[in-house]
Amino acid sequence: MIKTATKVNQNHHLVIFFKDKTSHQAIAQVLPTEWSNLVKSFRSAKHVGPKKSRMIQTGLDPKAPRLVLVNLGETASVPLFRNLVGDVARQLRSEGTVQWLSVESISDWECHLSQVIPMSLYSIPHQKSSKKDEQGVGSHIVITSQKSVVNDGRIVGDAVNKARSFAHMPANILTTSQFVDDIKALFKGDPRYQVTVLNESALKKKKMHALLGVGQGSIHPSYLVDITYKGGGTEAIGIIGKGVMFDTGGISIKPSRNMKEMKGDMGGAAAVVATAWAVGQLKLKRNVSFIVPIVENMVSADAQRPGDVVVASNGTSIEITNTDAEGRLILADALVYASKKKLACMLDIATLTGASTIALGPYAISVLGNHQGVVDQLLAASMTYNERCWQLPLFDEYQELLRSDVADILNANEGREAGTITAAKFLEQFVGDVPWAHLDIASTMSVSATKGDQVKGMTGAGTRALISFLLQYRAK
Ligand code: BES
Ligand code: MN
Ligand code: ZN
Repeated sequence: MIKTATKVNQNHHLVIFFKDKTSHQAIAQVLPTEWSNLVKSFRSAKHVGPKKSRMIQTGLDPKAPRLVLVNLGETASVPLFRNLVGDVARQLRSEGTVQWLSVESISDWECHLSQVIPMSLYSIPHQKSSKKDEQGVGSHIVITSQKSVVNDGRIVGDAVNKARSFAHMPANILTTSQFVDDIKALFKGDPRYQVTVLNESALKKKKMHALLGVGQGSIHPSYLVDITYKGGGTEAIGIIGKGVMFDTGGISIKPSRNMKEMKGDMGGAAAVVATAWAVGQLKLKRNVSFIVPIVENMVSADAQRPGDVVVASNGTSIEITNTDAEGRLILADALVYASKKKLACMLDIATLTGASTIALGPYAISVLGNHQGVVDQLLAASMTYNERCWQLPLFDEYQELLRSDVADILNANEGREAGTITAAKFLEQFVGDVPWAHLDIASTMSVSATKGDQVKGMTGAGTRALISFLLQYRAK
């Protein structure tokens, strides 16, 4: 749905971006000669969508292409640009072919544009009996000489949408087994990928009792899926994502308000699977191990209890203080499993703590790690696609909060202090000496309103950060 061209086609709508200081002549120059006079009238033309945009009809016929002039203002920034693109794209939704052109050098504009178009036109998967309200995505042409940048941007946008769709699926439809089947189907037939599924008996053999304990109260079996991508090189990067298909909290049950959001508690796994898909499309030339532990955290006669002690696959005993701190338990075994591979570094991503929202609100992902080089590269890389990450500390002292009288560690501290940090501190016990960073996406997993590249609902959080990290990482 996104193509490139080097010249404007007069038969299609044209959206053109410029900054305040740009002269009318500069704008007129990039237009077909027949349209160049129109620019003079743009100040009096009617507004569309975002504040500083105007729309001009290019001919008398009501079907004549429209020219949308988007004035970014002098202080144009990447977030502003992405917001405007998203809003304009939705405004012109189902209006036929739209061409996009920039008069200004907005940093990597083709990359952002081609990412934001699919992201902003996303519609959530639904189970309505009628399909009549479904909206299309139209055709989009980016006027550029950088065909491959546009193509890559579209892949990243499509990957975000894939992650969003997994996260939106109701937990009675996207069960643990169904998710495993969907993952297998996604990579089937591509020789670069090898998908290995560990079922409960395999998990027992590997002594993954931290993971198994979380899933034991569900009728849906637990799994660990290992997607190995062979892109080249000797070492691999590990990417691990929390896949809790639904989180009731278990016996430490959650309040019912907003509990339905917990169908998205596999947002980390969704981002990982979407990233795994994207790297193949982008032809990434490095090896990556994508690992997703998949469980459902339910309440039943078989469910894990507070006070239970489980032993993880590295021999660490864990006293369960709160069955709602389940994500770190499944990640513990997944991290141990990953750390046994020959990894240059690893990242894990999880909708882990409500405290992450308390710390940062809905605008940034919390990042913590045992290796400042990896953390720094993640923080820098994620900015390339405007997905903000912010670091929190992992000081030794936080370990005190997880001291247990009966086991090696508590799964959660009883108090409310430093919830995001203590969760990461817990995970740190299971990474061995692999350089590691953790992304807590609980704060950004969903948005309540549509704006710019965001569409109300699940966000596909972390997908952009993971992809940009894999593209940019350099061992130091
Ligand atoms: N999945 C939740 C975290 C979450 C909360 C994600 C809200 C998205 C929105 C996680 O499993 C959880 O329940 N965490 C607890 C930890 C606590 C029991 C130490 C939390 O944050 O309250
Ligand atoms: Mn929970
Ligand atoms: Zn959870």
